[in-house]
Amino acid sequence: MSEDRYLTFALAKGRLANKTMELLEKIGITCEEMNDKDSRKLIFVNEERKLKFFLSKGPDVPTYVEYGAADIGVVGSDIIMEENRRAYEVLDLGYGKCRMCVCGPKSAKELLQHHEMIRVASKYPNIAKDYFYNKKHQTVDIIKLNGSVELGPIVELSDVIVDIVETGSTLKENGLEILEEICPLSARMIVNQVSMQMEPERIKKLIMDLKQYV
Ligand code: PRP
Repeated sequence: MSEDRYLTFALAKGRLANKTMELLEKIGITCEEMNDKDSRKLIFVNEERKLKFFLSKGPDVPTYVEYGAADIGVVGSDIIMEENRRAYEVLDLGYGKCRMCVCGPKSAKELLQHHEMIRVASKYPNIAKDYFYNKKHQTVDIIKLNGSVELGPIVELSDVIVDIVETGSTLKENGLEILEEICPLSARMIVNQVSMQMEPERIKKLIMDLKQYV
């Protein structure tokens, strides 16, 4: 593959992208242009290393990678599970650690034990569906929300929620608790399947270098 081809990274914007840039810096990869926090630029280039970086909403990262608009993506494993896009998952980066859980008021615990028909609110309908239908064999009504999911049981939209728990303080402050744990989560690196064939040396070297720090 031509030395002049850019390797493009799609990063989930926010804390994960900042952590990723810190990690890349440890292996000598930087992007000066990204340090200007006031900039509204969407794509950043490191000409010397022939690298491009762009920031996107988390759920769009696997989409960019599947279609080859980005060679490499960094995103939470929650989103990888939810989006179920075609890409190689090559590295657990070890940060962004949290848990996917079924949460609700203490009183809802019983509803999970008797396979009752319940309402589940979530930003992650596919993960919720897989958990309740395939693992628990419980028929549930899944309601998709786009954020502040903890509101679900509080305003009686749903009995429980399926959501990310990091410190647990959102649950605590809203009188909710973890009822069941679905799986641990962390930031992952994913690679476009064609890019892996076209640029094996460059991508494998990147993975090997990063492995020293994760
Ligand atoms: C996430 C998640 C929980 C909260 C958990 O929401 O959906 O609401 O963080 O974190 P904690 O356990 O440390 O309290 P986020 O802040 O991404 O916003 P959102 O609710 O609008 O999705």
